[in-house]
Amino acid sequence: MLELNAACPVTKVVKRGEGAGLLKEPPRLYRLLKTLVDVSPVPVTVKIRTGWDDKSINAVEVARLAEDAGIKAIFIHGRTRQQGYGGSISYGTIRDVKQAVTIPIIASGNIFSTRLASHMFLETGCDGVAVARGAFGNPWIFRDLLRSEKGLHDEQKPEMDEVARVMRKHLDSSIEEHGERIGVINFRKFFIWYSRGFSNVAPLRRGALSAKTPQEMHLMIDRLMGKGRS
Ligand SMILES: Cc1cc2nc3c(=O)[nH]c(=O)nc-3n(C[C@H](O)[C@H](O)[C@H](O)COP(=O)(O)O)c2cc1C
Repeated sequence: MLELNAACPVTKVVKRGEGAGLLKEPPRLYRLLKTLVDVSPVPVTVKIRTGWDDKSINAVEVARLAEDAGIKAIFIHGRTRQQGYGGSISYGTIRDVKQAVTIPIIASGNIFSTRLASHMFLETGCDGVAVARGAFGNPWIFRDLLRSEKGLHDEQKPEMDEVARVMRKHLDSSIEEHGERIGVINFRKFFIWYSRGFSNVAPLRRGALSAKTPQEMHLMIDRLMGKGRS
């Protein structure tokens, strides 16, 4: 699968007319998608937002032209570029898009729990949901979503040793990818996310935020496991 990202909000990207900047130029986006579809040996999809800003919501128009161009599925983040990653999700716009085209619609935005995923399905009629920040420090959300699909709606908290195992594996991968110094620094924010729901974590979070070596970070993980959940 090949995906064109017409949803990226980063200023230097949109300034070049790329990412979400493409939402301001539907005819150009159409030409790009058509060209990709014509030359790609694999199915092409597109990621969009509801529009550039609240005065120019055009996801339905963009979805129709994407379908005309031969796009096989649309991923839609239910916010405008102006909203970035904050503010409310426009379930209504995603529903309008779903009703306007026949290709699959995968909805994105605030999928932080199985309850919010069900809400997205119910409100929009979408064919699938995409998880982003909801997986930060909680990769178990995918297991919960699969269980919820089978009608099991209780979210299962992972055992503590499972959390420790995943945190250590994540830290090791970060170091493997970026080297010791940057790998540990990059992992700091994930420590904060993994430690949500644990009791009295403020001192440990401070410790993790100043950890410089893998040993120091592993020590913080050991201590976190000694805390237990609140
Ligand atoms: C750190 C970060 C990186 C992202 N990178 C991409 C990306 O490369 N391609 C993409 O289509 N969306 C990307 N997104 C957007 C997400 O896929 C998603 O649409 C958006 O975060 C809204 O979902 P959420 O509210 O569940 O986080 C990124 C989001 C975040 C927070």
